[in-house]
Amino acid sequence: MNYIEPSSHYADIENGELGNNSGRYEKKLSNMEGIYADNVAFQQAVKSGGEEIVYKVTDKHPAARHGDMIIGMTQMQPGLIGDEFYVTRGHIHATANRPETYYGESGEGLMLMESPDGQINIQELRPRVMCYVPPFWIHRTVNIGSEPLVMTFFYPADSGQDYEIIAKSGGMKSRIVADGTGWKEVPNLSYTPRSDDEIEQVLATADKED
Ligand code: PA5
Ligand code: MN
Repeated sequence: MNYIEPSSHYADIENGELGNNSGRYEKKLSNMEGIYADNVAFQQAVKSGGEEIVYKVTDKHPAARHGDMIIGMTQMQPGLIGDEFYVTRGHIHATANRPETYYGESGEGLMLMESPDGQINIQELRPRVMCYVPPFWIHRTVNIGSEPLVMTFFYPADSGQDYEIIAKSGGMKSRIVADGTGWKEVPNLSYTPRSDDEIEQVLATADKED
């Protein structure tokens, strides 16, 4: 038996990075094309700051072996495109019955979740709040504050990410927009519900016993 070496990782909340990480990726504003409702506002924002890194992920990413786990940290910058708060791209796990846990470290955010049949669920993310994303839920985080939103997360190493599911339906069913000093959920007018066949395809990615 080749045992994996245990490790420790400092959660550097100030810099929004997991210490001793083995993987990182960053998204610039210019990488977020097609996500926000107000494309004119998006193009203007890209012109003035398209190279801005809007979120970064650092993680300890072992091989995608069943039974193992990925641990990591996401830091999202605050901002608005039109009246819509900055979001992550969002995804469903490619093996869709894999769950995830997020833990709020700093800042104020939301976990926007959608089931394949179009139910929406929104949970608040703030320091010391742990958010459970159950199997089969599409998930995207939203920074609704004026400071960076920092979260740690944990999910099975063989989950994978399917980003296309959101693009195919014209975005998630709801958008999160500024409302005075707070936020509100509004319908995404470009959204098309998934067909029964499309829902079946998502469910079929799960392990057979589910
Ligand atoms: O596993 C997760 O859900 C997170 O680590 C996200 O990947 C991270 O927050 C970035 O979001 P996305 O992968 O949708 O770009
Ligand atoms: Mn995920």
